[in-house]
Amino acid sequence: MKKQTLHSTLNQTDEKQRQESISLLNQFLSDFLALALVTKQAHWNMRGANFIAVHEMLDPFNEKLLEWSDTFAERIVQLGGTAYGTPPVIVETARFKPYPLDIYTTRDHLNALKERYGALGNAVREAIEDEKADPDTIDYLTSASEDLDKYLWFIEAHLDD
Ligand SMILES: [Fe+2]
Repeated sequence: MKKQTLHSTLNQTDEKQRQESISLLNQFLSDFLALALVTKQAHWNMRGANFIAVHEMLDPFNEKLLEWSDTFAERIVQLGGTAYGTPPVIVETARFKPYPLDIYTTRDHLNALKERYGALGNAVREAIEDEKADPDTIDYLTSASEDLDKYLWFIEAHLDD
């Protein structure tokens, strides 16, 4: 994402690193909001085996993804930046294939979610390993990737029958 004009702050993180962190956090803000939405899409539309278990499993995933979105957006602002959380920005920047609207079985939804939770977990890990963001942002990303790994495990364990 392109450089922003930053608000002044006494935060001493150098400007280049603040710009890198803000850009990364805005990317993940989009990705996490998009994944939160498609998690609800699955929660609402799935049918069949293990319905109630999977339906109820997905709500805490959605809530945590929204919590992380809020944490990322607030971190952007703490660094002097602007959080981009509007629908057109999410549509333009979230790194997901469109979620299918014509799948119904719990298995098909879990497979669609598996692909997306796995991809996002790996993208977060890649950003951590790149070490371009400031240490506090990296700290958030590390905790967020632990959550994504846990949810991927829950999804994969449901599929392993
Ligand atoms: Fe619900």
